[in-house]
Amino acid sequence: MTDQTEFRRYLVAIDSISTHQLFTDCLVIGAGIAGLRAAIEAAEHCNVIVVCKGSLQDSNTWLAQGGIASVLDETDSFESHIVDTLNTGCGISDKEIVDLVVRQGPRLIEQLLRWGTDFDLTDGHIATTLEGGHSHARVAHAHGDETGRIITEVLIKKARQNPNIKIVENFCGVDLLSNDDNKCIGIIGQDKRGPQIIWATNTILATGGAGQLYRETTNPEIATGDGIAIAYRAGAVLQDLEFMQFHPTTLYVAGASRALVTETLRGEGAILRDSRGRAFMKDYHESAELAPRDIVSRAILAQMLKTKSTNVYLDVRHFKREHFAKRFPTISELCESFGIDVSQNLIPVRPSAHYMIGGVKTDAKAATSIKNLYACGEIAATGLHGANRLGSNSLLEGLVFGKIAGQSASQHIKKPGDSGIKHQRIKHQPTYSNRTLLNTSDVRNSLRALMWRNVGITRKAQLLTEAQEIIGFWQRYVMDKTFDQPQDWECQNMLTVALLMTQAAQMRKESRGVHHRSDFTNINDKNFKKHIEITSGK
Ligand code: FUM
Repeated sequence: MTDQTEFRRYLVAIDSISTHQLFTDCLVIGAGIAGLRAAIEAAEHCNVIVVCKGSLQDSNTWLAQGGIASVLDETDSFESHIVDTLNTGCGISDKEIVDLVVRQGPRLIEQLLRWGTDFDLTDGHIATTLEGGHSHARVAHAHGDETGRIITEVLIKKARQNPNIKIVENFCGVDLLSNDDNKCIGIIGQDKRGPQIIWATNTILATGGAGQLYRETTNPEIATGDGIAIAYRAGAVLQDLEFMQFHPTTLYVAGASRALVTETLRGEGAILRDSRGRAFMKDYHESAELAPRDIVSRAILAQMLKTKSTNVYLDVRHFKREHFAKRFPTISELCESFGIDVSQNLIPVRPSAHYMIGGVKTDAKAATSIKNLYACGEIAATGLHGANRLGSNSLLEGLVFGKIAGQSASQHIKKPGDSGIKHQRIKHQPTYSNRTLLNTSDVRNSLRALMWRNVGITRKAQLLTEAQEIIGFWQRYVMDKTFDQPQDWECQNMLTVALLMTQAAQMRKESRGVHHRSDFTNINDKNFKKHIEITSGK
């Protein structure tokens, strides 16, 4: 927070006596791959409530195209996947976590297959493909580029069949509740019936990403970084907030929202061309189209500048038409909807905010710095990705750490309903200010444009300082109010996370992975081979 803004532990007034309440052994907030996998695991031992802000289809997992990376054939090896992940992470991945995630992957993917996930197969085995930074084809996919949807549907079905799991959609979580020992004891939120408290012995944050902080993003509308802001207000240690990964290729049609155009297209031979038709990636990296994402994103921006264009193009005209439609049904449909015939036309693309590497710091058990609070999936900063995420390692991380979080949050509970959570009195009245009310939807749009311009693919001190000042100004007028609608809480959360990200980006005076500074272009191991942690200290 800036010194102009009073820190608020809770965004809303709370009186636990007069608020509708539910009780559970384990609360999971978020329903992407990590949240659902956590719920399924925890439900082996206890009662679970899963809440999500929108519908079960509103997640980054649902939109995932390329796939899930893992060592799935005998010509590949754990060592190779580990080395690729560490190399891409630019020196600050946590080796113990990389080892754990890579080694648990195959078993959990086989389990997904047994649960009914319709992975694409070759000769009876899970088919795999390439993405940038992988030295082996190890990206598994389902129904071509519908991997996320297919996996989510299987997990939803499995969760729905489990009598220990209750799923509540359209529940907007506002704040984690904590007791005098600073233990997390549940959440206050709102569904269609009004304010609700869910008391929970253990809580798992799996709220996903923060791509909506940027004007251009592949993320769904719900991805406003709420979990990070909520955890910050509760006093959790946050880590790596300067590392937002930009995906090099999202469909660029002026006026339309951005949509992911999967990297596996490049893995299978798509070529990046500039507006003059020239294949330019070799000018920037020996691996050309398959260089790490940060390099491809910056190369695209540089080439757009050189050619004075708003975008570059993906060329898939050499793919066989029927093969393309079957292997990439989502992209086919997307292109068709904009009148792009991929066998004749180039696909206009440019980079967009895609994946939040930073978030709530967790350990190998998915535990956060707050007692009884766990985190998994995109919101967690496990250290797996270091300063740059290897494509398709995120679904893998969500799967592995979803299971771990579910285990950690439930293993001490003997049987469902036995954890003994009770009503606790919480009364809180935020102070009000009579400063002018700004229109939060205007602030939101302006913030997204500001983050894109000043805290985007390339950063520098002067732009970051300007962003800090402007966000601080908006915070004075938005953080001092009390709202009762999800879009306003989202705006408060976006302002909170944007400022923290900008502060972290300002602190890291070097270029590493996805964090690129035009005023500090080199890596600086002496001062910055470490993680930047931030906490409200509350
Ligand atoms: O390009 C893609 O399909 C995205 C994959 C990922 O972000 O892991």
